[in-house]
Amino acid sequence: MPREWDAKAYDSLPLPHQQWGRGTLSRLSLTGTETVLDAGCGTGRDMAALLDLLPGGRVIGVDGSSRMLEQLRTKLADRLDRLDVIEADLTKPLELDGPVDAISSVATFHWITDHASLFANLASSLRTGGQFVAECGGEGNVARINAAVEEVLGAAPEGREQVWYFAGVEETTARLREAGFTDVEVSLLPDPARLEAGDQLCSYLATVVLGSHLDRLPESDHEDFVRAVAARLPEPVVDYVRLNITARKG
Ligand SMILES: C[S@@+](CC[C@H](N)C(=O)[O-])C[C@H]1O[C@@H](n2cnc3c(N)ncnc32)[C@H](O)[C@@H]1O
Repeated sequence: MPREWDAKAYDSLPLPHQQWGRGTLSRLSLTGTETVLDAGCGTGRDMAALLDLLPGGRVIGVDGSSRMLEQLRTKLADRLDRLDVIEADLTKPLELDGPVDAISSVATFHWITDHASLFANLASSLRTGGQFVAECGGEGNVARINAAVEEVLGAAPEGREQVWYFAGVEETTARLREAGFTDVEVSLLPDPARLEAGDQLCSYLATVVLGSHLDRLPESDHEDFVRAVAARLPEPVVDYVRLNITARKG
């Protein structure tokens, strides 16, 4: 099951996701009347941008966090007539009224370890010829933070549940083709994000990066854990490496 997110803290942070969202949506070619699904829509930033691009279209947001979706409904309260908001797990078949014209996704797929099911579900939700644009953490993402986590917690023992899945280019290309996508283009791009040392870095780590680690720790240990990870970073930088995907349903 997807985890809950602190939606208000998330929206208060300086998120590189804003730029990733703009870059991802810029790869869509739209006439303005399509229906586009945002997979892992969070608090709705990219859905608002999609509504602007689709004066005669609709936007469907799917996310597994009720708190993210509550915040989305509040932020987009005056635009709900052209929005559908669905709380669902992207690893399970999606229940839609019909196939959509395009799917976009930002900063979501690395929270999902079963990419075969994820891509199969998205392919089933997309019309033949429909566009698919996405970005997420890819191979090598947050390696320094991961090393700091391992220093604090100890190396992950065999069998410990995986928190993130940072896929590479070849495996993703193969999985997308297996799921029925064509015109598949996948690339990796380092894109480090610098934050203010101290409270901003710790709040960012706790809210955006280390949530799944914190879910596994008693609440009384959260602050010490985040500060210990932050203290082990050589600079207040999140060493992001992004996996960019463009494809079409065959
Ligand atoms: C880092 S946030 C990105 C949100 C938004 N796309 C953005 O760029 O701000 C990741 C989102 O993925 C959602 N998510 C993670 N795993 C999911 C799953 N299995 N099914 C549905 N949503 C999921 C989370 O609830 C969260 O809102």
